[in-house]
Amino acid sequence: MDGLPNARYRHIETHRIAGALGAEITGVDLSRDISDEVLGEIRSALHENLVIFFRRQTITPGQQLAFARRWGDIHLHPFVAGIPDYPEILEIKKAEADKRNFGGTWHTDQMFAPRPAMGTMLYALKVPEYGGDTMWTNQYLAYETLSDAMRRMIDPLKSVAKGEGTKKYGGKSRKEFYADRLTTVKVIDPGDLQTNSVHPLVRTHPGTGRKALYIGSHVNHFDGMTEDESQPLIDFLSRHSIRPEFTCRFRWSEGALAFWDNRCTQHFAINDYPAGTRLMHRITIRGDMPV
Ligand code: SIN
Repeated sequence: MDGLPNARYRHIETHRIAGALGAEITGVDLSRDISDEVLGEIRSALHENLVIFFRRQTITPGQQLAFARRWGDIHLHPFVAGIPDYPEILEIKKAEADKRNFGGTWHTDQMFAPRPAMGTMLYALKVPEYGGDTMWTNQYLAYETLSDAMRRMIDPLKSVAKGEGTKKYGGKSRKEFYADRLTTVKVIDPGDLQTNSVHPLVRTHPGTGRKALYIGSHVNHFDGMTEDESQPLIDFLSRHSIRPEFTCRFRWSEGALAFWDNRCTQHFAINDYPAGTRLMHRITIRGDMPV
């Protein structure tokens, strides 16, 4: 980051929240039409900060969807139903009855899909009095801090990412896995949708040209290797990619919207509010085939 993060922006201001990634953006009202010029500045801010936050927004589902559509097609989640009238918007709710939360592992969204999510927008409608923060990690840094020899070794590898039936889901389908844990998330059957995909372990971001480690909890094994052979390297890369100095942590407030780039980050929803309720509206934007 340069020392004068706002110098290049005419319409928005960015306020960095951590050394590795994350910035709050001011000067934007997401309930209004966003001009192409402002959108261009938001895109630059996203490329620069990887995850951006807009606080004190009052937006309807239609307005959130209109903003999301400016970034590309919407990804329909294969396992979770949308809210009434808006199949593109997932209600992410954790109430007192729920022991588990949604997104409580380090992951990048829809890695199991052939064209995983480019970005995700999460809008906070209700937040617990304390807890329920989300963390993100910078996967450019995760890649760039590996030794030359390790980078040469992993550059050609491909990961098999799975959406169900894996160790992560205790051998269950995601539908079964979520259905017995999250009473408030409406789980649906993925039908014929593809929920296993092969992706490069190191991907090049189409907007910045930088290489990022592309790993998360959906990775089951490396293509052409057994699960036993793959696991030690998966464990090492997973641990390495979430080193504290690569991360940021966001304290939610009602009306805050986070927008993150899944092509160069992982995120983790912290489940530390047993007595509180947290309610979010989430939209994911379809991305390209990772290369
Ligand atoms: C997610 O993984 O998309 C949910 C993140 C959150 O609820 O903080």
